[in-house]
Amino acid sequence: MSEPKLLVANWKMNLPDGFAEWGQSLKKQCASAFDVHKIALCPPSTHISVMRDALPEGIDIGGQDCSEFQKGAHTGDISATMLVDLGCKYVIIGHSERRTDHHETNEMVKAKVEQAFKAGLTPILCVGEKLADREAGHAEAVVSEQMLASLPDDPSGIVLAYEPIWAIGTGRTATPADAESMHAALRQAYPHDDRENVQILYGGSVKPNNAKHLLDQANIDGALVGGASLNPLEFSGIINAAS
Ligand code: PGA
Repeated sequence: MSEPKLLVANWKMNLPDGFAEWGQSLKKQCASAFDVHKIALCPPSTHISVMRDALPEGIDIGGQDCSEFQKGAHTGDISATMLVDLGCKYVIIGHSERRTDHHETNEMVKAKVEQAFKAGLTPILCVGEKLADREAGHAEAVVSEQMLASLPDDPSGIVLAYEPIWAIGTGRTATPADAESMHAALRQAYPHDDRENVQILYGGSVKPNNAKHLLDQANIDGALVGGASLNPLEFSGIINAAS
């Protein structure tokens, strides 16, 4: 068995039917893979405490975003410290849906990562290219640049997630070879001595039938899963594909 992988469920703004039983069903389907790999759930923030209490041991909880500010007059936002108070270990930052819907820039994303670290959370920093960047052959340069502009001076302990925008929720996945090449490029460009240890997740239409080829790649250390994570059977298929 190789290194433990990190498998993160990102429910986005969805609540699956029977969500309170999600963790128990998942555990039942996973057998030994559950003890080997690291598993986390990022539910909508309104349901973090409900899910925290409903999850079996072995699944960590995380937020889907945090504020770039520590506290104050920011109606509707949630601080990194508040996520810690709810029992979160992780927080997804800079997801392309937030970069698009909320016009988050690399500077804002970097400030959020800094807040997350300050509060004691592990940030999962998302980066990814548009289809036009890939078709023009610029994908690795664009994504490396985005990563460098979003990282704080000391990024040690961060988790990176490479999510090509054209693959998110579309059913189109990067080929294992293209994903591996991007992950290797990001590891190379990562501006810190611990580049060999930084965990780089792949995200974008990961499903039980494509997970194994992706997770078998040397530089793919786990997956950030949206749609397929809503169903414990599908998510367990992905976890079980991690060898
Ligand atoms: P998807 O989402 O698995 O539904 O493509 C992945 C993500 O956005 O994190």
